[in-house]
Amino acid sequence: MQELEYEEIQGIILSGYVKKRFAAYSLLRIRSRAGAQSYLRWLEARLTTGDQRPEDVCHNVAITATGLRALGLGEETLATFPRELVEGMAGTAKRSEILGDTGASAPEQWLWGGPGNQVDVLLMVFAHRPDQLDHALQEHRRRQQDGLEEVYFRSTEMLPERREHFGFADGITQPQIKETGRHLTGIECLRAGEFILGYENEYGKVPFSPSVAEDPRANRLLHTNGQNGRRDLGRNGSYLVVRQLDQHVAAFWRSMLDQADGDERLAVRLAAKCVGRWPGGAPLTLSPDEDDPSLHSANDFLYRDRDESGRGCPIGAHIRRANPRDSLGSSAKESLKISARHAIIRRGRSYGPELPRFAADEGEEQERGLFFICVNANIARQFEFIQQTWLDNPKFGGLHDGRDPLMSGADDNDHRIPGDPVRRRLTHLPRFTRVRGGGYFFLPSRAALRYLGQQAEAPLGADLPRTVAAHHAPGAQ
Ligand code: HEM
Repeated sequence: MQELEYEEIQGIILSGYVKKRFAAYSLLRIRSRAGAQSYLRWLEARLTTGDQRPEDVCHNVAITATGLRALGLGEETLATFPRELVEGMAGTAKRSEILGDTGASAPEQWLWGGPGNQVDVLLMVFAHRPDQLDHALQEHRRRQQDGLEEVYFRSTEMLPERREHFGFADGITQPQIKETGRHLTGIECLRAGEFILGYENEYGKVPFSPSVAEDPRANRLLHTNGQNGRRDLGRNGSYLVVRQLDQHVAAFWRSMLDQADGDERLAVRLAAKCVGRWPGGAPLTLSPDEDDPSLHSANDFLYRDRDESGRGCPIGAHIRRANPRDSLGSSAKESLKISARHAIIRRGRSYGPELPRFAADEGEEQERGLFFICVNANIARQFEFIQQTWLDNPKFGGLHDGRDPLMSGADDNDHRIPGDPVRRRLTHLPRFTRVRGGGYFFLPSRAALRYLGQQAEAPLGADLPRTVAAHHAPGAQ
């Protein structure tokens, strides 16, 4: 098995920095190539990589296709990146349709990443305390002045017990990377190439990686990719999918309460049937009747033997769609293989103030939700597949007409709950989430970041005179 080159790999692939409760995401547009490159060179020296155990603040950075172009990568190089990255999350009507980004979630309505507010660079900063975060951000802003402009800013603070806004424990299941040797029982252990370019994946193949033509600078910084004289820009890097998902918390609980005829206990049970875990985290498959604190972080479960019909965890529940484990088709072994080939590492954080369960509507006008981030080496096979073929597919797992009840892209959704003790169907569920922004990003290795900070592949020409209207989220610092 290949050794991971930890000092080259951005830390966010290997860690969620969960001890750092505060995070900020700054979405930037490049105004001047020289200024942006000078900032990236400064940032490279502060980049948090997998070999570090930083005490206070962590810094990671990712770049969209428009950003790579603005930094001077030519079309020949961009063509070696995956098509979905080059087109961008909001790049074509077809992609928006695939992702369910229609109606109120359409890119034309986004706060960032849509047609009028394209972004080039995502800066991610994580800290123990808000003052550490502020201090780090001030320094970043000073260094960005000459080359970048902020399009959107979002600061976040973890909710108690790592819950997301609907009130459910989150971040429990995460695939482990085999090559790290950190193996936890019951958690899928997948080959590094599913999440990091340059390593073998679950197919036993090294994933396709973007490359640049040889030149003295590239040769000094980047490994050869063994293919007709090109250098590997992707090695030790990955791709990030970022989606800002507003959650309509009051509407969610109102809907559960309506379906439960006002019975709060039943409403919580129905909500758990939408997620597949109880609010505390216990999986419904292991504990169908009530929450069980001893199972709050349980991951060691499969569906087929215990819960084939979905009497515990409904087939259409969020976690069963997002990772069907052994439950697809006629062979458990085949199903596990399929699930392993469509896995993501989730690194998102909740933003906005908490709204208690069953609270009245006040506060609903406040923005709150999940700043969803996932790491994958193949956006189409991993994130897009999960989103389109599993979460937002009304025919998932033999169902007829139900999409993911938490984050369906349809306005009139159904969710079938077998047993309980009699089966029921939640009907006419509205959308409980709304996409407010998003993008596909290249997460460069340290060496690739150094290269991007220095390279001048395309003729430099004049700098790019671009201005954008900055949008600061409430609570922006
Ligand atoms: C606002 C939107 C979302 C909410 C509130 C949400 C909430 C949750 C919760 C509560 C869990 C269970 C805790 C855990 O297993 O860690 C979970 C698991 C999961 N979610 Fe989401 N999620 C959202 C969006 C998404 C999206 C967009 C994707 C992927 C496209 C996704 C993929 C997953 C996966 C893969 C799991 C783990 C399932 C397992 O392995 O058992 N989620 N989510």
